[in-house]
Amino acid sequence: MVGGNQAGKEGNVIASNVKLDDGVVIHHPDLVNLYGCSIGRGSRIGTFVEIQKNASIAENCKISSHTFICEGVTIEDGVFVGHGVMFTNDLHPRAVNLDGTLQSDVDWSVIPTLVKRYASIGSNATIVAGITIGEGAQIGAGAVVTKDVPAYAIVAGVPAKIIGRAKDAPVEVISSGRGR
Ligand SMILES: CC(C)(COP(=O)(O)OP(=O)(O)OC[C@H]1O[C@@H](n2cnc3c(N)ncnc32)[C@H](O)[C@@H]1OP(=O)(O)O)[C@@H](O)C(=O)NCCC(=O)NCCS
Repeated sequence: MVGGNQAGKEGNVIASNVKLDDGVVIHHPDLVNLYGCSIGRGSRIGTFVEIQKNASIAENCKISSHTFICEGVTIEDGVFVGHGVMFTNDLHPRAVNLDGTLQSDVDWSVIPTLVKRYASIGSNATIVAGITIGEGAQIGAGAVVTKDVPAYAIVAGVPAKIIGRAKDAPVEVISSGRGR
C-alpha cells in the first residue's frame, strides 16, 4: 500500500481518515500531509504533498512533490500533476470577517474543481477555483488557469490560453474537433 517508508511509524502524517486503495504508493509517508481525502488504486504521491479533506484522487494518478490539493478538488483516473502545483478553492479569500473576527468554515463555501481523466498539469501551475480541466488536456508549466480547459487542449501562460492540441489525443477526438 505505501512504498518507500512504511505507514504507521512515528512521524507519519497520513491521518487515519484517509481512504487509501490497494496499490497506492506514497514514497515518504513521513513527509506528506494527508487528511480526510481518498486516493485510488495505483496512484503515486510524491514528497511534501498536502491533500486536504474532501479531495479525491482516482486511480493511476501521479502527484509530484510539493503539490497542494485542497478541499473540493476531484481528480479522475490517470491524471499527471507536476511538481509544486497549487489548487485553490476560494476566489475571494479573507482571514477575517467584517467585524474583525477570524473566519471559520461557516464563513465561506468551497468552490469545487474537476480534473478529468488523462489530463496533465505542468509544474508550478496554479488552478484557480471552480474550473474544469477537460479530458487529456495539457497545462503548461507555470500557467495560471482561470477558465475551463477543453478536452485535449494545450494551454499555457498567465492567464492560460490555448496554444495547441495534444498530439496524443485519440483519433476520434481529433477528427471530431473536440478540444479546440
Ligand atoms: C505547454 C507545453 C505542453 C507546450 O509544449 P509544446 O506543445 O511542445 O509547445 P512548444 O514547445 O512548441 O511551444 C509553443 C509555444 O508556446 C510557448 N510555451 C511553451 N510552454 C510554455 C509555458 N509553459 N508557458 C508559456 N509559454 C509556453 C513556447 O515558448 C512557444 O512559443 P512561441 O511559438 O512564441 O515560440 C510544455 O511547454 C510544458 O510546459 N509542459 C509541461 C512541462 C512540465 O511541467 N513537466 C512536469 C514534469 S517534469
